[in-house]
Amino acid sequence: MSAKPPRTLKTVTGAGGVSETYDLAVDPERSTLDTALQVAALAEAARIDALFTADLLSFGAQGAIGSQEPLVFVSALAAVTKRIGLIATVSSTFHHPYNLARLFGTLDHISNGRAAWNLVTSSLGEENFGPGGLPSPEERYARAAETLEVVNALWDSWQPGALTRGPDGRAVLDAAKVRPIDHTGRYFSVAGPLNIPPLPQRRPVQFQAGQSDAGRTLGARYAEVVFTSLPTLDVALDFTRKIRGQAEEFGRPAGLPLIFSSFHATYGATEEEARRLVRERHEAIDFERGRAQVADMLGGGVDLSEPPLDAPLPESLLPDVTTVNRRRGRVDIFTGYARQGYTLRELIIAAQDTGHWAVAGTPEQLADAVEERFRAGVLDVLMLGGLADPRQHDFAVNGLLHELRKRRIVGQDYAGPTLRQNLGLELPPDAG
Ligand SMILES: Cc1cc2nc3c(=O)[nH]c(=O)nc-3n(C[C@H](O)[C@H](O)[C@H](O)COP(=O)(O)O)c2cc1C
Repeated sequence: MSAKPPRTLKTVTGAGGVSETYDLAVDPERSTLDTALQVAALAEAARIDALFTADLLSFGAQGAIGSQEPLVFVSALAAVTKRIGLIATVSSTFHHPYNLARLFGTLDHISNGRAAWNLVTSSLGEENFGPGGLPSPEERYARAAETLEVVNALWDSWQPGALTRGPDGRAVLDAAKVRPIDHTGRYFSVAGPLNIPPLPQRRPVQFQAGQSDAGRTLGARYAEVVFTSLPTLDVALDFTRKIRGQAEEFGRPAGLPLIFSSFHATYGATEEEARRLVRERHEAIDFERGRAQVADMLGGGVDLSEPPLDAPLPESLLPDVTTVNRRRGRVDIFTGYARQGYTLRELIIAAQDTGHWAVAGTPEQLADAVEERFRAGVLDVLMLGGLADPRQHDFAVNGLLHELRKRRIVGQDYAGPTLRQNLGLELPPDAG
């Protein structure tokens, strides 16, 4: 067996087409895919490992920016790309596993093995999937676990050799090797088999986002890559230690799941320029409006209209996370800040990055911050944003990515045709 190549940092960028959606939608000459087509071409030219789409199932919170259905979006990008991976964020709370197995199975076929599913349990959108409100985190994660059991069984329902190529080049089906899954569970009853041929990757790469205790446990059990917001090195070290420990208890190979971190970069040609950009952003904050933002970061059940801005929040105002129904992982981050003594004003500033890892500086300084986490083993996949903006693209690709390649932290080229190969992931041991 060939020696495993040295560990390298993988990169992902947003597929784009979110903040421009409305402008493109009203432009008769263009489609809402246009920006994403440019970003996909730039990202593949830069040998970025995958394109990522987030998911929003509600107008309310994000009315200001548009959103398009992630799977439809990346399927269109599959047709105009060759090597770059295609990650679609889709909710297990508001989809049925048989459809999910077909949707991601088809994406893997039409992309020749570049599909990935970022499973989320959603914290918004229940008003569109009634009757009944947002199920509790316990319910959402229990359903997510059963969903994964079902989709994995469906992707494995074709045994090796079920479909082969005959001497005339035509397919030969051995139907005896295509087996029903006969699943009966708390949420689903699914006979199977899947009516899609075995996937190029056998299973799409499994991502997951949601880092409450229940979310981390789901990721430790099933995810190959977990998408996280880890604002500080300490939070990243603590999260990685816990999830890897749980994964080991589940009998998973060392080093899984890979840690994929969001990354809010403020680039400057000089350190002073980057500091000025951050200063100007903070000076533009409406701190009265910021009170509601922090209340949202704390789960939405606290009233912060009265407390003084330049004093820490009293413990009595901090929620018990077990009583919070939405984004418990993020509530953990902000109650953590509050217990460290952040004033309300400092919490409002932190809320601008909604709990994500934010770094400002020159590309070399950002490479230092990335290298620190990579060498500490708490960063395996980096979100590299801003490719739709020419100046940000220059900083991100010709600056940071170039610097990380010079330091041999990021690989020079794609390792193979499939996303699994480019992320250095073996097939899950329990894949049929
Ligand atoms: C980095 C990150 C990105 C996320 N992206 C999305 C998203 O695009 N769409 C979505 O519905 N939920 C997203 N979520 C939230 C998930 O839906 C999550 O399952 C849910 O909020 C429960 O989170 P919890 O485990 O923190 O309680 C994201 C979570 C994290 C940590």
